Amino acid sequence: MQRYMQRVAVLLATLCADIDPALTADTFLSLLELPPDKTMGDIALPCFRMAKAWRKAPPVIAADLASAMMQRIDGQDPAWTWVTEAVPAGPYVNMKLDQGLVLCDVLTSVASDDGVFTSERHLGQTVAIDLSSPNIAKPFGVGHLRSTVIGTALANLLESDGYRTIRINHLGDWGTQFGKIITAYRHFGDETRVRANPITELNALYVQFPVKAKEHPELEEEARAAFKRMEDGDPDDLALWRWAIEVSMAEFQRTYDLLGTHFDYNLGESFYNDKMEQVIEELREKSLLTLSEGAQVVLLEDEGLPPCLIRKSDGATLYPTRDLAAALYRANALHADELIYVVGGEQRLHFQQLFAVLAKMGYAFAAHCSHVAFGLMLLDGKKMSTRKGQIVRLQEVLEEAIARARAIIDEKNPRLPDPQGVAQAVGVGAVLFNDLKNNRMHDIEFSLDKALAFEGETGPYVQYTHARACSVLRKAGWLAPEADSGAASLTSTDSLQAINHFAAQAQPSGTERLAAPEWELAKTLSLFTQTRIRAIDERDPSLIAKLALDICQAFNHFYHDCPILTAEGELRDVRLALTDATRLTVRNALAFLNIKQPAEM
Ligand code: ARG
Repeated sequence: MQRYMQRVAVLLATLCADIDPALTADTFLSLLELPPDKTMGDIALPCFRMAKAWRKAPPVIAADLASAMMQRIDGQDPAWTWVTEAVPAGPYVNMKLDQGLVLCDVLTSVASDDGVFTSERHLGQTVAIDLSSPNIAKPFGVGHLRSTVIGTALANLLESDGYRTIRINHLGDWGTQFGKIITAYRHFGDETRVRANPITELNALYVQFPVKAKEHPELEEEARAAFKRMEDGDPDDLALWRWAIEVSMAEFQRTYDLLGTHFDYNLGESFYNDKMEQVIEELREKSLLTLSEGAQVVLLEDEGLPPCLIRKSDGATLYPTRDLAAALYRANALHADELIYVVGGEQRLHFQQLFAVLAKMGYAFAAHCSHVAFGLMLLDGKKMSTRKGQIVRLQEVLEEAIARARAIIDEKNPRLPDPQGVAQAVGVGAVLFNDLKNNRMHDIEFSLDKALAFEGETGPYVQYTHARACSVLRKAGWLAPEADSGAASLTSTDSLQAINHFAAQAQPSGTERLAAPEWELAKTLSLFTQTRIRAIDERDPSLIAKLALDICQAFNHFYHDCPILTAEGELRDVRLALTDATRLTVRNALAFLNIKQPAEM
């Protein structure tokens, strides 16, 4: 729609140039709206803005402007061919667009992929995206799932805008907790049990530690000493620590394989151990370090923030110190121009402090750091937590989703080739879509039943609509029976010619050429480009998920109301082309969200 609004804005600026030269096309573009009632028109111009300068009431302005527009339209002014009608309605002018021209434009731009699904605004820029980042020896939490899912979709979207992305998994693999885990393992751990169930067992040891330390207070001292030895490079302690990383990573990798996520770097916090002194030295040189109760801190009073803790009184570095070193590494060694952190909203203060310290250090890239936060995931209205024994094992949730999807497929479509592959696409897609359809800042409800439903705002609903479009196209011979959903078809026929002809047929101005559901679908499809750009600018993939739902809804209305395969001649081509444009657009939307798009379900 944006393209058509831009056209209309230019026309309006020209129309009003004599009366009010200050009203530019950009101003008009910012005023134009989509009318809430679709039957009233395609684009609306509210006239409040002009009232003061023009010394007229908005309804009078609307009536005057509408009649000036109709003069151009009726006079067949070639500049106005895209608009077929302008009607005043109170303080608004409602305009209708030429359906044939818009239809052609939408179909041809979807057919030439590049124009619609990519842009180049950030060509030559590199963005480092910190995502997933679970903690070694602890369960992969729902927060890590959200970070992985949102971060991956965001990275895909940013790449479509010209960015080079560096996807970094900032694993929590360092800190005093490892002294406790190692000590607990030495006293009451069991190798076979850990090997069989690494994260559960290691986490259990960590949870048991304070209980045992109550009875044997000397354990606390032993744990501190163990971590100190790790920091000093003791090979035995480090070997145990490395083993914990190895077995934990193997378990995380199973989840990543199911989710279909990849990282360019798995760099744990420990990676920065040997880069810490340099950061602290730099802070000291820049006179940013202050001694506070024995600890080294950076004061952030001017920024209205609490001090950022850099080094504890016992000499140990902290989470913020490691993040400082990591940020410098990303900017200097990896040459990132922008740093994005996809981390839960509860770490807001941490990132405010981190970015403030980087700015105080004088780094220009500090202005290009952002915390892409997100809300909680709620189970039955309660926060899902990994503490208090209420461990929600993600791997199990995903496996359960796949098993249920498989059961549905076996019941509904027992002859489907590769039922397990499709079950995995649908089960995992359901969990992903349930997350991504919500504005990232909102808390989301998790219910496997609802996420897996084929009706409503779900992943399976979108995937099913896509498969339905594929099936229609297969029956029409537009898609080869064995083709996957990525196969091109719109341009491979001469249908575009037929569509052009359909669109160009001389019609009296103001005649609607399409049935209402066809027109709705065409307009909804035309929203993709501007929605993708907004999703990128707002760093919010949910805009894409919501548009995918709107497109599916528009397509399903169209599918029920307008016969496709039994239509004749050019009309059949137009309807098939709309089906194909739906297939391509939904497929791309799902691909951005990292959700698979089976051609058959
Ligand atoms: N491991 C941390 C946690 O689970 C998240 C790390 C986020 N990334 C970062 N650069 N601090 O809370």
